[in-house]
Amino acid sequence: MDLSGKHIVLGLTGGIACYKAAELCRALVKEGATVQVVMTEAASQFITPVTMQALSNRPVYASQWDAREGNNMAHINLSREADAILIAPCSADFMAKLAQGRADELLSLMCLARPMGAVPLLIAPAMNREMWAHPATQRNVAQLQADGGVVLGVGSGDQACGETGDGRMLEPQELLQDVIAFFQPKVLVGQQVLVTAGPTFEAIDPVRGITNLSSGKMGFAIARAAQEAGAQVTLVAGPVSLPTPRGVHRVDVKSASNMLLASMEYAQAASIFIATAAVADWRPAQASDQKIKKDGSGETPQLAFVENQDILATVAQLARARSGELFCVGFAAESHDLLAHATAKRIKKGVPLLVGNIGPATFGQDDNALLLVDASGAKEMPRNSKLALARALVSEIASRLPVVSP
Ligand code: CTP
Repeated sequence: MDLSGKHIVLGLTGGIACYKAAELCRALVKEGATVQVVMTEAASQFITPVTMQALSNRPVYASQWDAREGNNMAHINLSREADAILIAPCSADFMAKLAQGRADELLSLMCLARPMGAVPLLIAPAMNREMWAHPATQRNVAQLQADGGVVLGVGSGDQACGETGDGRMLEPQELLQDVIAFFQPKVLVGQQVLVTAGPTFEAIDPVRGITNLSSGKMGFAIARAAQEAGAQVTLVAGPVSLPTPRGVHRVDVKSASNMLLASMEYAQAASIFIATAAVADWRPAQASDQKIKKDGSGETPQLAFVENQDILATVAQLARARSGELFCVGFAAESHDLLAHATAKRIKKGVPLLVGNIGPATFGQDDNALLLVDASGAKEMPRNSKLALARALVSEIASRLPVVSP
């Protein structure tokens, strides 16, 4: 669970998006967090404290005069225990209050009284599109950011008022991902990461082709982990049906040739390249424009193949040309003798780090085991979820990056 041990104060302010706060509360608890709900008077017009108490399994606080606190200082006690305060939904009015440092009810009082260095403030705005676009609100967003607040952004689409545009609160699952990401160590800030993932599809004719069993899960987990670590991430994905990790720029490709073109384009600006894709080694020499039909003679089509260009080796060559400004990481999917194959493949591809795994044991699974091979030897990463391994790999990569002098 990604939020085990975290204590989050979830603040609700007045807005129809309060209905989403119920699901958000549940999602945070499911991920291992303890959640203390604090509501404004306006929020309790939209959702009852009873609902939020039942979901958080804790009494809800709504007043600074709450006599349940021994010292009658709920605003101090609540914020001292928190790992973060998350205001979701945060109304335009409440953002204005926070920006001005007002403190005339419990939630704003608690935000003002929080120890800023120890308790971050995350804000999920929710309002009508005109209110969001108003210069006063945008001024408040800028002020809140300048004061160290983290404004999580807004969604776009149909609004409760019947209008369409920016200003909706992000969906509970999106907010959950943002909160989880917030707590990850920011070891890749300033890095541009390029990841290839998934299989490729090599057409035989318009309805048939050659592909492989890669699900893309490891590469997508690495893209997510790199984004959580603060990098700008581009994910060049073969044909897979996985959701794009939040904040990641995804480029969908089909064949190995498409993947090579996209990789070369994005590698120009990248500082890290991680090749997890299971690229088809060969493609049919000539893809037919029309479906190949059976002619009734019982004869089978004779397919000839040509080798696909090695994307990793080509990008690694570019990296060497850029004298080490692009750190390349390869993967090796093997069926046996992992250490020997991974060691040989690292040298053959000309990359500083190669990550070995046993292909048939991991294709399509949610977990994996990795073997990291670099010039100084090998290191095992025992079986774990692909996301946990991806985060550990990101930290291994960060520790190998050249130190840039300021
Ligand atoms: N790779 C690539 N382009 C190719 C083939 C492989 O970029 N045309 C990359 C993969 O993304 C991976 C690494 O090279 O990072 C090793 O891929 P793998 O399939 O394990 O090895 P191959 O190079 O194909 O060698 P072999 O099939 O002989 O094991």
